[in-house]
Amino acid sequence: MAKAKTNYTCTECGGSAPKWTGQCPACGAWNTLVETVVEAGGNNRFSGQRQGLAQTAPVLSLADIEAIDVPRFGTGIDEFDRVLGGGLVAGGVVLIGGDPGIGKSTLLLQALANLSKLKKVLYVSGEESGAQIALRARRLAVDGKDLKLQAEIQLEKILATLGEQKPDVAVIDSIQTLYSDALTSAPGSVAQVRECAAQLTRAAKQSGVTIIMVGHVTKEGALAGPRVLEHIVDTVLYFEGDTHSSFRLVRAIKNRFGAVNELGVFAMTEKGLKGVSNPSALFLSQHDNPVPGSCVMVTQEGTRPLLVEIQALVDSSHVPNARRLSVGLEQNRLAMLLAVMHRHAGVAAFDQDVFINAVGGVKITEPAADLAVLLAIHSSMRSKPLPRGLVVFGEVGLAGEIRPAPRGQERLREAAKLGFSLALIPKSNAPKQKIEGLTVIGVERIDEALNRIREHE
Ligand code: TYD
Ligand code: MG
Repeated sequence: MAKAKTNYTCTECGGSAPKWTGQCPACGAWNTLVETVVEAGGNNRFSGQRQGLAQTAPVLSLADIEAIDVPRFGTGIDEFDRVLGGGLVAGGVVLIGGDPGIGKSTLLLQALANLSKLKKVLYVSGEESGAQIALRARRLAVDGKDLKLQAEIQLEKILATLGEQKPDVAVIDSIQTLYSDALTSAPGSVAQVRECAAQLTRAAKQSGVTIIMVGHVTKEGALAGPRVLEHIVDTVLYFEGDTHSSFRLVRAIKNRFGAVNELGVFAMTEKGLKGVSNPSALFLSQHDNPVPGSCVMVTQEGTRPLLVEIQALVDSSHVPNARRLSVGLEQNRLAMLLAVMHRHAGVAAFDQDVFINAVGGVKITEPAADLAVLLAIHSSMRSKPLPRGLVVFGEVGLAGEIRPAPRGQERLREAAKLGFSLALIPKSNAPKQKIEGLTVIGVERIDEALNRIREHE
């Protein structure tokens, strides 16, 4: 097969150049040019190829177009269906990312085995041999009778198989191992990943096959390959969690067919991943007595509240630039929160190293964690534990104000259900009716919050 013509495209601005250079000639960014295929008869309007123009889609009034609900089918794994927004969609393309060994292949093998009872499925593996997958299937005790498997990494052959077998659902494990004959670059390179993903997506849209692609993540935690991969597909899911603990979270980052920020919670057992249907107390560590530097918050993940323990350690610094480290929480916000605490509550930490951690490998991105982070830091600084049974949430603003968090009532009810007795929350989140067993303190400012805690010690 003849090599297709390629040029170099900038991943930042999309500008193109005929030759590779260190700096993009269009936007000036460094090291952003990657090899891409030039489509035959592409957008050169002087090429004389005008066939494309004949088939322009008609312009319609939105009101004339009938809204059709997309039919969904479940995977038989409730927690997986939940993050997918209710199940898979015909012709939908799902990208699922995560660290190596976190359970991507396991989850997809389990899902496909369930689906194979009702649908035609195909598992394309570029990473493991058939024998390795068979071994895993035996371990998972899944029925592999109707599960079709192909160990292949060449894109054109995979597309041919998809055309021949016409599966309803196909898994590509993983997109980084595939290569297209049309490109000279190695599998896993940005150009290959992008081209393979685009071709597979086109195949899905044309034939109605649902494609689930596995994507590797880089050391920084982003999906390897260009960010455009996330734009091409319909749904992006990420596996999270500590590989050392048995719990795994699957989070939806983007979903054209459902809500994002839904969370699926699993436990890794010796028989594969098992859904955890009631995960709210999973991320609390067990302390017999309250310890300094620990604060429990309620975070709202999709439709479910989760209780997560935030830990902080404040220690006098012996380096000129005191360290600020965070695991599972936003680093930049930590610096901001320390500044707010200094200016608006008079508690200084400039000569202290500050470490914060969300227990259990969860990642919390919502600002409602602010108050918990500050209380944990304050508690560690003074070596005084927070009151027993305390739960908090609330965003802290630059002016020192405590801002409300969405769905406060649900958060409080979940905390009360799990036996928490005291809640320190934004004033506007305070419930109108009393919640059984829960004393609620509504606060408006950060200094007020710290004072109320001191009163309860
Ligand atoms: P895997 O699905 O291969 O990860 P990925 O495809 O994301 O790289 O998961 C492998 C890990 O899961 C491995 O470390 C072993 C563990 N595991 C179990 O604990 N129980 C099981 O039943 C299976 C199949 C794997
Ligand atoms: Mg794998």
